[in-house]
Amino acid sequence: MKTIIIATNNKGKVREFEQFFAKYAIKVKSLADIRKKIRIEETGSTFRENALIKARTVCKALKKPVLADDSGLEVAILNNQPGVYSARYAGENSNDYLNNQKLLYMLRGVPFKLRKARFVCALALVYPKGKEIVVEGTCEGYILEEMRGKNGFGYDPLFYVPALNKTFAELTEEEKMKISHRGRALEELEKVLENDEDSGRK
Ligand code: IMP
Repeated sequence: MKTIIIATNNKGKVREFEQFFAKYAIKVKSLADIRKKIRIEETGSTFRENALIKARTVCKALKKPVLADDSGLEVAILNNQPGVYSARYAGENSNDYLNNQKLLYMLRGVPFKLRKARFVCALALVYPKGKEIVVEGTCEGYILEEMRGKNGFGYDPLFYVPALNKTFAELTEEEKMKISHRGRALEELEKVLENDEDSGRK
């Protein structure tokens, strides 16, 4: 069975990638499955930069093609915060619950129509010989005033999609993947790879 290395420790992301790659019979390996300790300095100021930093660092350490995901939530009325700081919005040792609570606090008193937000996902695929592919996907929604749903991870329980009348946390993985920032970025990646016949050999 073919394997793809994903430069992440985020279990929520790993589950979504596993589900996506299962249809190609490709097994996902995350940093948690790799013995080597790899230090990644996420110093970029954009999702693209950070995705490239992660993929390049892990590709260099393992000498294998590596896919990295850098993603996060941009809330319009908060000047697109938390953005690239989404994972550590409530502090360095933060967790999903605390990040959601901080977001609710920052948006206290803000009416629904001004709670517009979008998820962004940048995917970088880097090959040992230097070839690099970067794609992006986004998904628009609103931040609710309380958490709804038990699925997913991160800000999913607060991220409401009007067309479905559901939060991301009320969707199955498959339903989320059809419309999510990550699903859309993966669609883009599929298109690029289909048009790039020799990408697997680089
Ligand atoms: P990263 O691992 O540095 O890319 O940080 C990603 C962070 O953005 C996660 O820890 C979540 O807080 C948030 N995030 C990214 N994608 C999603 C998603 O699909 N659902 C909910 N939160 C997400």
